[in-house]
Amino acid sequence: MDLTKKTECQEIQALKEAYSAYALECEAAMDVLLARIRNLQRGTAASGGRTLIDSVTYRIKTFDSCVSKLKRNKKDFNVENLRDLRDVAGIRVITPFRDDIYTVVKALENQSGIFVERRKDYVANPKENGYMSYHLTISIETFFLDRKVNVPVEVQIRDVSMNLWASLEHVLNYKKKTTSPTATKAFKELAEYLTDFDDRAIELRKQLRIK
Ligand code: GTP
Ligand code: MG
Repeated sequence: MDLTKKTECQEIQALKEAYSAYALECEAAMDVLLARIRNLQRGTAASGGRTLIDSVTYRIKTFDSCVSKLKRNKKDFNVENLRDLRDVAGIRVITPFRDDIYTVVKALENQSGIFVERRKDYVANPKENGYMSYHLTISIETFFLDRKVNVPVEVQIRDVSMNLWASLEHVLNYKKKTTSPTATKAFKELAEYLTDFDDRAIELRKQLRIK
């Protein structure tokens, strides 16, 4: 093996080790946040006994996905840039109704040990293609045996119909080379249709005097 190849291998090995260490921190932070979210999931008198969270999913970005994201953003793959990725830990929270999203956001951001680094409210301001969701990059206090670290976790909060839209659009259109103006227009129309659906669902709930 020539010397440059050997150094390259060593570098990749060092980066993989850095990824493993960071991913471990992210996983620990995600566990802490998941426990807090599950507590919000318990129906309380404040929510009229109904649960404001329909389901929760989560994932840790793989080493390969981190490499692809840095490449996409034209960044070198080094430890610093890796730690600059704020969505290695990701949680998706699905609520039954659109207005539940804001109740969940408030309940999270008011907790101690949780710091909001960034927010994108695509519910109030949908993306041009019709995408709706509330994104929070939270930095959460995470305790280990010998240290405390504030670790970022990306939380996407959306209601069931926004999730239906995003799931289908992700499969058929999002970041796809095969996208067409017809498909894009169709998704925009579907988003409008689902916004109307959401309006009616909230109206119905209010008519039924359910919180
Ligand atoms: P990336 O994290 O690199 O995607 O960029 P960003 O942080 O600037 O983007 P943003 O926070 O707006 O969105 C990140 C995530 O939201 C994506 O990875 C998707 O899961 C979701 N998302 C954003 N826009 C769309 C969209 O148009 N369609 C679908 N299906 N999902 C989207
Ligand atoms: Mg992101």
